[in-house]
Amino acid sequence: MTPGAPPPSLPAHPDPRLDAVLRGGLPHRLAHAFGGPFHLLLPDRFDANAAAFHTALADSGVEGRVHYAKKANKAAVWIERCAINGTGVDVASLGELREALGHGVRGEDIVVTGPAKADDLLRTAVLHGCLLTVDALDELDRVTALAAATRPARLLLRRRPPAARYSRFGLDDTELAFALRTCAAAAGTVRTEGFSFHLTGYATRPRADLAGELVDLCLTARTMGLPADRIGIGGGFAVDYAAAADWERFLARQGPDDYHAGKSFPAAAFYPYHSPVAGADALREILATRPGGRGAPLADRLRAAGITLLTEPGRALLDRAGCTVFRVQGVKDRSGYAILTVDGTSLSLSEQWFGSEYLPDPVLLPAGDRPVGGRPAGDRPAGRPVRACVGGATCLETDLLTWRKVAFPARPEPGDLLVYPNTAGYQMDSNESPFHDLPLPPKVVVDTADGRVRWRLDRRPAR
Ligand SMILES: Cc1ncc(COP(=O)(O)O)c(C=O)c1O
Repeated sequence: MTPGAPPPSLPAHPDPRLDAVLRGGLPHRLAHAFGGPFHLLLPDRFDANAAAFHTALADSGVEGRVHYAKKANKAAVWIERCAINGTGVDVASLGELREALGHGVRGEDIVVTGPAKADDLLRTAVLHGCLLTVDALDELDRVTALAAATRPARLLLRRRPPAARYSRFGLDDTELAFALRTCAAAAGTVRTEGFSFHLTGYATRPRADLAGELVDLCLTARTMGLPADRIGIGGGFAVDYAAAADWERFLARQGPDDYHAGKSFPAAAFYPYHSPVAGADALREILATRPGGRGAPLADRLRAAGITLLTEPGRALLDRAGCTVFRVQGVKDRSGYAILTVDGTSLSLSEQWFGSEYLPDPVLLPAGDRPVGGRPAGDRPAGRPVRACVGGATCLETDLLTWRKVAFPARPEPGDLLVYPNTAGYQMDSNESPFHDLPLPPKVVVDTADGRVRWRLDRRPAR
């Protein structure tokens, strides 16, 4: 940090509706009931995000399907919403498939991705008429054998992106040619519906380019008698967490002095917390792009070839659909900053487990008029701003939710709550475990649909 400059901060985009819920006292009431930490889930946001993807497809006149990539969050409520609002689901394990089927998503609306899929996953998927993305030639052999013994299988051949030479996923050119011959020979047993890919990163241009190649592959496959009428472009639709100016300022200002123990994170390791084009707008941009920079936009090419576009957004469908609340358990001082200890672990904020840090600023919710440390917190003197990092309630030196010395408007105290915004996409539960015999944080579904704020647990007690 430059001497004299304000500490680097990265406020999440304002969210007045969520703020009203947070400031209305619900988090403190839930903390009283459950202790902490806990996650809040906002299903109406998920519905709106899914609707935006469907609208982008409809506006372009392209036949398409949206499949929620279930790996992004384990809550039941998203799958319930998918079953109700006609969004498909992308699953990558038998557990995820069971969840989707068990909440009423039909097999025909489920895409099964992931490498070297287990036999029991393949069998259940084939029996339910799910669409399988085949990742390898030996997997194709297993699918054809299974389909011959049970019922015809629906499949896409997953393309290894030519630019991703070292990707472990998908089929290269030679394997793809071989797979097509196998599929043609097994045409009565497997229905080859097309091709798919998933790219790392969030750029739209490479997605449009590769989608254009898959359209050509469909046309080739049709000459071999295969139906080839759909392509899947995976996920990777960016989420825009923060304003451009805040993000640029943050990157320019932050340095090792801003983190506990002088830790530094390479800027390239951070998620791109600002994206000028994000979510459903990224899909619009992909559809409007000319693959390879030539000819008609992708949308026109899909329409002309009668090809359905399949998408698998995970993070983007969960944008602003949840946040995570921790309770401050202890506060101690180090030279020039404080260390907060909260009543959970960094396992509930997954970015640390990828060697990075979740950067949108946590928001402090003081304990209000509840007694804190023997005196009413409502009477707490306004105090001075304080910088503090945030550690978990474990015995691990490296269990920090936030290494950064976040600037808080006042000194946090035990009983205050810290709200990490926009955590539903991959942050809240990808890595959670009952480490130290700590309970898994409950998930609380918040319903504000009719103007009233009501809540329930994500998973109701079994009946
Ligand atoms: C095959 C596949 N589809 C979809 C996704 C979801 O990606 P995102 O959450 O970035 O949209 C992933 C993520 O790893 C994936 O591997």
